Amino acid sequence: MSNQEQDTVLEARGLSKSFSIVGAADLKVLNEVNLTLKESSSLSIRGDSGCGKTTLLNVIARLEPADKGTLFWGDRKIDAVSKPLATEASWRAKHIGVVYQSYYLIPELTVLENVLMSVRLSGLPITEYELRARELLEQMGVGNKSMQIPSKLSGGERQRVAIARALVNRPQVILADEPTGNLDERTGAEVMNLLLSSCTKEKTSLILVTHNPSFAQATDKTTSLKDGTLIYE
Ligand SMILES: Nc1ncnc2c1ncn2[C@@H]1O[C@H](COP(=O)(O)OP(=O)(O)OP(=O)(O)O)[C@@H](O)[C@H]1O
Ligand SMILES: [Mg+2]
Repeated sequence: MSNQEQDTVLEARGLSKSFSIVGAADLKVLNEVNLTLKESSSLSIRGDSGCGKTTLLNVIARLEPADKGTLFWGDRKIDAVSKPLATEASWRAKHIGVVYQSYYLIPELTVLENVLMSVRLSGLPITEYELRARELLEQMGVGNKSMQIPSKLSGGERQRVAIARALVNRPQVILADEPTGNLDERTGAEVMNLLLSSCTKEKTSLILVTHNPSFAQATDKTTSLKDGTLIYE
């Protein structure tokens, strides 16, 4: 639920970004994007393929610099134009959980080790998080797969593992980029319900990029990215 009294966990102000294309004019992808995400709330972003949704998430997560703009992660003001530093990786792992369309699990590691990789990256004590990792895998319905390697799991199961991995550090925000894009309709709906309900339960805010209108409608705020601008619907 979102209302005016909730604290803002993330704010983006005036984010602009272009890509230079050899032999052509610059491609302007983001044009003064403003975004506000409140504590324990969810926001969806829709938009045509290639309109800049992933680019926006990458700038917000400090994986890519913007050409212009400022980010506020809670009280922390970040110049979005500055090049992301390697030292930001542990901050990122602690504060942001990510879920991608193609899961990105590490093939050589077990399911449990994959979930704990988030903890390792953030510098949090692994032994203290192992029980939580196991509980999250249970909640996601893949508790019995914790010692398997990802290639033995179905797509839906892999995405459930990726959601557990995104949640394990109790991040403030989860950025989910078409998390159901590779799943059939029924599995996609199951995974989406798990993602939305676990964010609510954990009081984690969510930015959801999706092409699916009914998933988009399930978030507190719906937006679309068009001509580089985020439109609140
Ligand atoms: N590193 C890059 N260099 C040049 N152009 C890029 C780069 N990254 C993205 N683009 C271009 O920027 C535009 C926006 O890409 P982006 O991946 O953000 O779109 P999207 O909205 O996520 O699309 P989709 O729905 O297909 O995932 C595209 O035209 C893409 O080709
Ligand atoms: Mg994308």
